[in-house]
Amino acid sequence: MQIESASFDQLAEWEKELSSHYERIRQHELNLDITRGKPSTEQLNLSDKLDGILCNDYRAAGGTDTRNYGGLIGLTSARELGADMLQVPTEEVIAAGNSSLTLMYHAVLTGYLFGFAGNTPWRELKAPKFLCPVPGYDRHFSICAQLGIGMVSIPMNDQGPNMDLVEKYIREDNEIIGIWCVPKYSNPSGITYSDETVERLAQLGQIANPGFRIFWDNAYAVHDLGHYVSLASIRAATLENDTVDSVLQFASTSKVSHAGAGVAFVSASSANLQSLQQQMQTMTIGPDKVNQLRHSRFFTEFTTLKEHMRKHANILKPKFDCVLEHLHNGLAEMDLGQWEKPQGGYFVSFNTRKGCAKAVVKLAAEAGVKLTPAGATFPYGKDPEDSNIRIAPSFPPLEELDTAMSVFVLCVKLASVRQKLEQQRKAG
Ligand SMILES: Cc1ncc(COP(=O)(O)O)c(C=O)c1O
Repeated sequence: MQIESASFDQLAEWEKELSSHYERIRQHELNLDITRGKPSTEQLNLSDKLDGILCNDYRAAGGTDTRNYGGLIGLTSARELGADMLQVPTEEVIAAGNSSLTLMYHAVLTGYLFGFAGNTPWRELKAPKFLCPVPGYDRHFSICAQLGIGMVSIPMNDQGPNMDLVEKYIREDNEIIGIWCVPKYSNPSGITYSDETVERLAQLGQIANPGFRIFWDNAYAVHDLGHYVSLASIRAATLENDTVDSVLQFASTSKVSHAGAGVAFVSASSANLQSLQQQMQTMTIGPDKVNQLRHSRFFTEFTTLKEHMRKHANILKPKFDCVLEHLHNGLAEMDLGQWEKPQGGYFVSFNTRKGCAKAVVKLAAEAGVKLTPAGATFPYGKDPEDSNIRIAPSFPPLEELDTAMSVFVLCVKLASVRQKLEQQRKAG
């Protein structure tokens, strides 16, 4: 059925059927959660050999006793792991603690308080702003919100952020000092930036404020679901455009090994790394090198890590297939929403009809299925079209996901039909 062409009576009939189905489901008192992109227990189990791998041998190559203080930029073997993940030289990598989000937060603080590479600290500008491709990662936006850095939404298309708009804003406003990018299997849309997008981003350093930085959060660099999608090297592109200082790259093993006990990496030009180190050396005497050593012994080669990621994919792929099958079987013939079919990453991004996302999330919650709050994928939690919902299939067992998705599809139908009925009522 196409909702746009349905008569009032058809809609009313449909609403009645859907409502009674919904009420039956409510009786089941479900308690399901597809909110956050966490690895499942089964995925975490894949890395349990990390525990005990050191067998009392705490010495890294070169003789460093990893139990002791020091080594601000991390063990060389851990930096090599980060270099492989980001496809950059080891000398340009710092291996840090367990979270790339922490590194990003500190990098934003560095720009804000001290400025990168001798540039004006952002706090001295009248209205510093970040460009925020949307839908995007809520925790990026929270960092800006907390520091009072303005946010300008940039719509994503199937090549990445709308680059015409990005360039226009940067040309018009010299106080745009950053852009958040999740270039591979973007959170939540699953899109990988095209070569042209990467090239145009690398050129921004020629027109932007010299303190401008691209936050290249490559959180899903190795998280393919089967089919490999390649991402052009932003480092190579900035070398060609003489803009190497304009990019900071991030990655971590959070969704490779243990999400709460992995190793995070930042890669940048030497001028940027120096700025970061200046701040880090006040903050810490050194990272958790024992954990770094455990990771280097577990992932002896990049090929070991890639093989390990195939095991993750074997667990994740059926869950993504489950989500996509429900959406296809339940909604493909209807005008009730659009969604992406990601080749990797952790999310499926779904767009309801305009003005329906909050209602869908509320209906699902009342039926016992928790979804990420509508709006979370936009700066300040406000989706101007109230349409984007991020589905995170990784954590629940397949059977629970299957049930949660049936409820989700039902709620999309019910919210859409109710909205259309209301519109027709108002129109008389
Ligand atoms: C895009 C993106 N960046 C960063 C993170 C967090 O990474 P970490 O665990 O390394 O802090 C996530 C987690 O969901 C993410 O989706």
